[in-house]
Amino acid sequence: MIKRNEMMDMPVIDEAVRDFLRTSQKQLTGRLKDIQTEANEKRVPVIPHETVAFFNWFLPILQPKIIVEVGTAIGFSGALMLEASHPEAHVTTIERNPDMMIKAKQHFKELDIEDKVTLLEGQAGDLLRTIETDTVDFVFMDSAKAKYYDFFPECFRMLKVGGVLAVDDVLQGGTILEEDKDIPRRRRKIHRKLNDFLSVVLDHPALDATIIPVGDGLLMITKRKDADFDFMLPEATIEETDQKE
Ligand SMILES: C[S@@+](CC[C@H](N)C(=O)[O-])C[C@H]1O[C@@H](n2cnc3c(N)ncnc32)[C@H](O)[C@@H]1O
Repeated sequence: MIKRNEMMDMPVIDEAVRDFLRTSQKQLTGRLKDIQTEANEKRVPVIPHETVAFFNWFLPILQPKIIVEVGTAIGFSGALMLEASHPEAHVTTIERNPDMMIKAKQHFKELDIEDKVTLLEGQAGDLLRTIETDTVDFVFMDSAKAKYYDFFPECFRMLKVGGVLAVDDVLQGGTILEEDKDIPRRRRKIHRKLNDFLSVVLDHPALDATIIPVGDGLLMITKRKDADFDFMLPEATIEETDQKE
């Protein structure tokens, strides 16, 4: 089953401006365009076109070679990042939904990029820990929003100093500013965890962070120096790490 994101229809900027950003900026071509069109028609929650335009501007400047993505869905952003990055780039991307995995594999095959993409199948909470490197150039976190807080320490650990982490959907249609009591109960966990996450990263001395109001808010973070974010790890993970040592 493909879960829909209820924030897809709540722009954080004026709707006419958002539509202008979607329609006036350079469009995709070829098979990637077809995948984008199909995703939008079927309302699969892939990055919107204004974020596509931003990635297509930013990634050729950053020239990342080692890319990690949390939240593959049907492989659209993974394929896009690969195309916009260094010619030798490789994307490792994580997905837990079997329906999404099938589509993503099909798309990677059609685009002939199977040897440049590694799809890790399962829960990001388990799989991020298995990526044993500190040389990643670019991480794109686009999965369950309530988990950003928990996933951040692993994403930060794997980034090289100077590497960039992009985090999608941090403004939640603007509701991120609202008080806890005004948030519907079903969304309160996401609201709290996202606010906790932002309060740690926006003003941290080891990071440069900026929120760009494209899509539902894209948080861009540069790792400036090493730092200890283990206090953010879920308790079970910390206990497990302690036992191994
Ligand atoms: C917004 S979609 C990703 C869209 C994709 N990045 C794109 O723009 O083409 C989020 C995806 O993350 C996956 N996901 C959410 N939480 C996850 C988790 N804890 N582990 C692995 N995958 C997860 C969902 O199954 C979903 O397919």
